[in-house]
Amino acid sequence: EKGGYEHFMLKEIHEQPKAVRDTLSGRIAEDGSAVTLGELDLSEEVVRSIDRIHIVACGTSYHAGLVGKVAIETLARIPVDVEIASEYRYRNPIVTDRTLILVISQSGETADTLAALRNAKMAGNRVMAITNVVGSSAAREADHVLVTWAGPEISVASTKAYTTQLIALYLFAAYLGQIKGTIASDERAKLMNAILELPLKIDEVLKTAPAIETIARDFSSWDDAFFLGRGLDFAVALEGALKYKEISYIHAEAYPAGELKHGTLALITEGVPVIALVTQDELYEKTVSNIKEVKARDAHVLALAWVGDEEIEKSVDRVLYVPHTLPFLAPVLLVAPLQLLAYYASIARGNDVDKPRNLAKSVTVE
Ligand code: M6R
Repeated sequence: EKGGYEHFMLKEIHEQPKAVRDTLSGRIAEDGSAVTLGELDLSEEVVRSIDRIHIVACGTSYHAGLVGKVAIETLARIPVDVEIASEYRYRNPIVTDRTLILVISQSGETADTLAALRNAKMAGNRVMAITNVVGSSAAREADHVLVTWAGPEISVASTKAYTTQLIALYLFAAYLGQIKGTIASDERAKLMNAILELPLKIDEVLKTAPAIETIARDFSSWDDAFFLGRGLDFAVALEGALKYKEISYIHAEAYPAGELKHGTLALITEGVPVIALVTQDELYEKTVSNIKEVKARDAHVLALAWVGDEEIEKSVDRVLYVPHTLPFLAPVLLVAPLQLLAYYASIARGNDVDKPRNLAKSVTVE
């Protein structure tokens, strides 16, 4: 059942190219010119009326939402707030009939996410769900549903679900932009082509697993790890840190690199692992200067950077390269190395990878 892999998590990490292909299937016109999401049942008129989106989710799905915010704001110019469901459901958010509540849930059964969905429905608001389970409560109760075709995810640590949530969000953002006319057709074609190339590039990334295993073994003897990045790199850093703590039980924190000086730098000591993500070209110099700050405190820095970025080697101890794509799509390629890092750190510590202590796959009670 694990298809020859030692754990479900490893199997699911390796299923990501296929999961992405399946999630894209039938949703991009053959000539790459348009996104077709008829299944959403969202009329052009409604799309044009949406002036705010609230993304609501928990855990890894929340982290996908953070990338979704950037995707939607960039391509469709609609303001997006992203909130943790257990927070959102207990406050009194400002919602109008032009607000779309977008819940993201792999299982479609997470208690807090469902409660947020039900509150919104009860108030007469429009709700959309991105979920991996066709017959789930979220899929049944939302007005509009976009399914991720990741296939069953057994490991408690979410991997391929996140990656396909990203794909669904990019498609949705492009779809909104296409209707609203906020994305030029040549830009859209460029984006679609880049998205279609992602499965092969994830395959490339997965080939670096042996190098990641060595690094993870070294890092696993430390009780802390810090994940840094700016912009989308920070959004993925959050997911990398969650994965790391969830299965390796090592204290891990993600910070926007520019925040270091505001407190966290005090925690950086000699040899401590710092994982720095540097794929956002416009922020490159800024992040490198933050890397220099942690290097000055003798941290051990692993960078995740674009293939060909030899410059970065001067500032860090080790580099994992990912194939080049649009910086906007980088999260899809950055997450696999971070998943593998967490996986091998967990193995090195002798943990039960697929069933980490204290956690359940689906959190159906608050
Ligand atoms: O099924 P959901 O997407 O609603 O689950 C949300 C979180 O419980 C889930 O992503 C959790 O954070 C994962 N165990 C993280 O790997």
